[in-house]
Amino acid sequence: MVGSGVEVQSTMSINGSLSNGKSAEQLAVSDVESFDPATVVPEPLPPVVDSNGEEVVKPREIVLGKNVHTTCLEVTEPDADDESTGDKDAYMASVLARYRKTLLERTQHHLGYPYNLDFDYGALGQLQHFSINNLGDPFIESNYGVHSRQFEVGVLDWFARLWEIEKDDYWGYITNCGTEGNLHGILVGREVFPDGVLYASKESHYSVFKAARMYRMDCEKVGTLVTGEIDCTDFKTKLLLHKDKPAIINVNIGTTVKGAVDDLDLVIQTLVENGFSHDRFYIHCDGALFGLMMPFVKKAPKVSFKKPIGSVSVSGHKFVGCPMPCGIQITRLRHINALSRNVEYLASRDATIMGSRNGHAPIFLWYTLNRKGYKGFQKEVQKCLRNAHYLKDRLREAGISAMLNELSSTVVFERPRDEEFVRMWQLACEGNMAHIVVMPNVTVEKLDYFLNELAKGRAIWYKDGKEQPPCLAVDVGIENCSCAVHK
Ligand SMILES: Cc1ncc(COP(=O)(O)O)c(C=O)c1O
Repeated sequence: MVGSGVEVQSTMSINGSLSNGKSAEQLAVSDVESFDPATVVPEPLPPVVDSNGEEVVKPREIVLGKNVHTTCLEVTEPDADDESTGDKDAYMASVLARYRKTLLERTQHHLGYPYNLDFDYGALGQLQHFSINNLGDPFIESNYGVHSRQFEVGVLDWFARLWEIEKDDYWGYITNCGTEGNLHGILVGREVFPDGVLYASKESHYSVFKAARMYRMDCEKVGTLVTGEIDCTDFKTKLLLHKDKPAIINVNIGTTVKGAVDDLDLVIQTLVENGFSHDRFYIHCDGALFGLMMPFVKKAPKVSFKKPIGSVSVSGHKFVGCPMPCGIQITRLRHINALSRNVEYLASRDATIMGSRNGHAPIFLWYTLNRKGYKGFQKEVQKCLRNAHYLKDRLREAGISAMLNELSSTVVFERPRDEEFVRMWQLACEGNMAHIVVMPNVTVEKLDYFLNELAKGRAIWYKDGKEQPPCLAVDVGIENCSCAVHK
């Protein structure tokens, strides 16, 4: 009855005890409490074995049109007498305990994605027993009473203050992720300008181009500078190709790979100088990661509704540190009416993308905002920027190509040669680049540990000089490249 897709160290006997003599419950509790990362069984990946019986490391496959079932915890139907033996419960408890250990280990070795893994939401455990759903408009109560709208609106008001828009002038909601914020912001832009052309830098997140495909919008990809920010000279060229149509622009407040911040003021200036008055453009600001960091960076340009922007979105599970994906989307109230529909079944109005919405997320956000507040976030941002500089400097001292944008905590560096190393540290890679996003949970000790491991790896990968580290001049500029030619 044990699912074949998972590697289980202890085998199960008929009466629910395990072959190591412990009940599954004992195993669950004691194993987790005496957690030792060195003994953690990695993901339930079946080892790949060659014809001689040797284990081989196979690169992960991505095959379009084919699902690869390498990791699967099979669902097994309950036995007729399961209730009396408890076998199934014991099995599931052991799987969950092992999964928890894997999560602990994977959390310790995470550096590549912009998620703040440092939080304590113990106080919210009591709410797990409720199916909290905020379906419909956050500002209009529906007939479903198990909701958290009061928290949602509190959180939205906080963000409205941060981005300088009056309570009566904004509309927004807690989304399921940053992607949904982009889908919504661009949809609002399209509803305001049904024949508008979407402009986005080529380093924008893929969700922006997904939106263009979903809504069948004309879309112009704009070139970028080496830093990753939008190239406003190219923006002007592209704008002039469609002078007769309104413009919908995605402005990046931190690009995915390089953490580059598009120059919002220069984008607006380019629009105006080329004949696009304020009533002929709509700007959506994608602040998935940096939307909540930039307000706390000294000298950083402001994202503010006092400027002619239409919407801003941010992810809640990134810098804020919410343990489930979520996001915040704020737009101008006057724009939303075009999108809004009355829904009799809900006794509410709907202007969101999804139907049901996670009602737990606003409570987690509300809890964190209350605990940290403006000052707490400011401190965390400063720490992230300090640690990011430390990482970049240490990489450069070690002769490794690296770049850190001025307003960012994303350190771009040479892609490690070994895919297992990449996987071990969960590094996000693109071409010859990898990056580490320094979040509040990334300490100097963790960075030192990583740097030492990287140094050891490089000593092996490039030991006899046959292989050379990649050249990153095109990606990060000659001045940041330490390849054999440019060092
Ligand atoms: C710039 C940018 N926009 C949007 C997103 C999408 O955010 P989410 O993963 O919350 O959907 C990301 C994700 O990394 C991002 O980097």
